[in-house]
Amino acid sequence: MKVVVCENYDDLSNKAFEVIKEQVVEKPNSVLGLATGSSPVGMYQDMIKDHKENGTSYKDVSTYNLDEYVGIDRKDPQSYYTFMNENLFSGIDIDPNNTHVPYGNTKEDCEKYEDAVNGVDIQVLGIGQNGHIGFNEPGTPFDEPTHIVDLTENTREANARFFDNDINKVPTQAITQGIGTIMKAKKILLVANGANKADALKAMIEGDVNIECPASVLQKHPDVIVFIDKEAASKL
Ligand code: GLP
Repeated sequence: MKVVVCENYDDLSNKAFEVIKEQVVEKPNSVLGLATGSSPVGMYQDMIKDHKENGTSYKDVSTYNLDEYVGIDRKDPQSYYTFMNENLFSGIDIDPNNTHVPYGNTKEDCEKYEDAVNGVDIQVLGIGQNGHIGFNEPGTPFDEPTHIVDLTENTREANARFFDNDINKVPTQAITQGIGTIMKAKKILLVANGANKADALKAMIEGDVNIECPASVLQKHPDVIVFIDKEAASKL
C-alpha cells in the first residue's frame, strides 16, 4: 500500500485526479469504480475543470458506484444517484448509459449489480470513521459480494449532516458492493482528509487485517494508493 501524505485537501484531490486522468488518457474505455461522500468531491471538481479546460474525454468510460441508500427515490436530493450526477456526471462528457449506481433492496437486485460490476480499472474509495468502505460496516466478511446492509448508528450519525442534521431522516439500510467486489478492482485509490479519519487510517494502514476494520483488507490488495492530508495522517 502506498500512502502519500499531502499538504491539504486541494493537494490530495489534485494528486488523486492525476491518477484518474492518466488512466483515462491511457485507456479511453476505462472502467472506473466511484464513491460518494465528501472526500472525493475535490477530485471530481478537478476532473470537471480538466475536462472543460483540456478536453480530457470520458465518452467511452464506464462507471460503477459503490453504494446507495435503500428506500430513497433516485431523484431525492440525498440519493447517491443525484450526488453523482450533480458532482461529476453533469460536468463531463460521459454517456449516462455507461454510468451505474446500485439500486434496490432484494437479493436479485444485489446479484444483478454484482454481475454487472466487471473489470474495474480503478476503484475510488473514501473511508468511514469506523473504517467502513462503501457501506461495508465493521464485521462484514471480506468475501461478501454486493449486499443489503443495516447501517450502524455511527454511520447514520456521520451522514446526518446531509439530512438536516436529523439522524431519524437518515435511511437505515443501504445496498453496497461487498468487500469481495471492491477487492476485484485492478487498482484502488483511497482519499481521506480530516482529523476525524485519523483513527480509521491508523487501523487501516498499521493495524491487523481484521473484519472489525473493513478497510484493513486493503493491505492484501496488490495495488493501493492512498492520498491523505496531514490531519488524517496525524496518528500514523
Ligand atoms: C459514506 C459512504 C462511503 C464514504 C464514507 C465517508 O457513508 N458510503 O462510501 O467513503 O461514508 O464519507 P465522507 O467522505 O463524507 O467522510
